[in-house]
Amino acid sequence: MDQLKEYLEKNQDRFLNELIELLKVPSISADSNYKEQTHQTAELVRQKLEAAGADNTELCQTKGYPVVYGEKIIDKSLPTILVYGHYDVQPPDPLELWDSPPFEPVIKDGKIYARGAADDKGQMYMHVKAFEFLMSTDSLPCNVKFIIEGEEEVGSVNLESFIEENKEKLKADVILISDTSMLSLENPSITTGLKGLSYIEVEVTGPNRDLHSGVYGGAVANPINVLCEMIASLKDENNHITIPGFYDKVIEASPEERSKLAETPYDEEEYKAKLGIDEVHGEAGYSTIERTGIRPTLDVNGIWGGYIGEGAKTVLPSKANAKISMRLVPNQSDDEITELFKNHFESIAPKSVKVKVTPHHGGEPYVTPIDTDEYRAASEAIERAFGKTPIPVRAGGSIPIVALFEQVLGLKTILLGFGLDTDAIHSPNESYGIQNFMKGTETIVHFYHTFSQLNK
Ligand code: BES
Ligand code: MN
Ligand code: MN
Repeated sequence: MDQLKEYLEKNQDRFLNELIELLKVPSISADSNYKEQTHQTAELVRQKLEAAGADNTELCQTKGYPVVYGEKIIDKSLPTILVYGHYDVQPPDPLELWDSPPFEPVIKDGKIYARGAADDKGQMYMHVKAFEFLMSTDSLPCNVKFIIEGEEEVGSVNLESFIEENKEKLKADVILISDTSMLSLENPSITTGLKGLSYIEVEVTGPNRDLHSGVYGGAVANPINVLCEMIASLKDENNHITIPGFYDKVIEASPEERSKLAETPYDEEEYKAKLGIDEVHGEAGYSTIERTGIRPTLDVNGIWGGYIGEGAKTVLPSKANAKISMRLVPNQSDDEITELFKNHFESIAPKSVKVKVTPHHGGEPYVTPIDTDEYRAASEAIERAFGKTPIPVRAGGSIPIVALFEQVLGLKTILLGFGLDTDAIHSPNESYGIQNFMKGTETIVHFYHTFSQLNK
């Protein structure tokens, strides 16, 4: 495999320059002001796939942003890998906290800084380059199909119908995704689980207009005060979520699983130092690894209302709002949890206010079994690239389409992610390590071989 290492080394600069070209286009799916650039990015990705050697590349139209498709079918009797990734990115706000502009990528300290560097343009592009190597050395050992979507960061709302309508086109043996992180380059890991998501917006309305907080304060319910109390009551003193029935379907980890998790190499002091916190926080009786990996959680993502301009304005606001997310674990269903939340939230509202609960997009959790050929192939691929057996780790993040890949296409997903928790995805100064990019690309090439081998 010296040929691979040589190829990667020789082409590294070109790979990075191509990635920079992609990172420069602000494909912010959440913001309609970037509609043109998001479409432009799709076309750019299509061109890159075509240049790497993919056949039948196309932009598949959906009700939203198109899905970029490409394939290389060398022999119908060989196994097929279906690669998924996303070309859309999160909004870069707050802009003032970036050290360099989010869409003007810079390379610094062995990392490339830009919105989307790790999530997911950088990780998606490793697949294009791994495929390019296999094509240019005439060593592709199996068939491959690519679907790169543009709406992952807004819930992949149009992708479900796309996969339902294209079952035949997407026929494959495994799904391969690089859109998660690993513990470190020294302790490579494979993501074996993703959380589900229930995302809800709430509005609490008090009086029919903003009031003078002196004339009416103390006599009329303040929707912000009420909302804060309602949110605070969603967890008890042990940080257990108090929504009735919330934990009913949670599969509790066995003592064996928990002791295995406790072996995960992880340094709590370093974790705290990197985040600038003095103490971690969470559900009593569980470790940080358990809280993020195997326990469901509830967080306020945004809260607003009243006067937030300069100076003081004495006002008792008419409305208060919040966006609340719950991360779910097997076997919780997002629809059920959303329903439980809605009923509970409405039931705890005092008569002095009205409450409106609006569900947003959601998604089901996913677990990758580790006793399968696919997992063994992935493990072997990491071993070849890193010289170490990877540790299975369950992630706190969500990729809602993964559960649907299983439901609709009947396919298991391998989450071969190479990001690091310090990449600051969704945050200012997002970055992706060049080493991660190169090692990731190498591992993906190995996976094509280990996977094809197993299927012989
Ligand atoms: N790539 C992330 C998901 C992720 C990150 C999984 C790190 C595991 C580790 C993905 O792009 C993402 O941000 N997903 C959203 C969900 C979506 C419905 C907006 C998330 O997890 O918040
Ligand atoms: Mn992502
Ligand atoms: Mn993301």
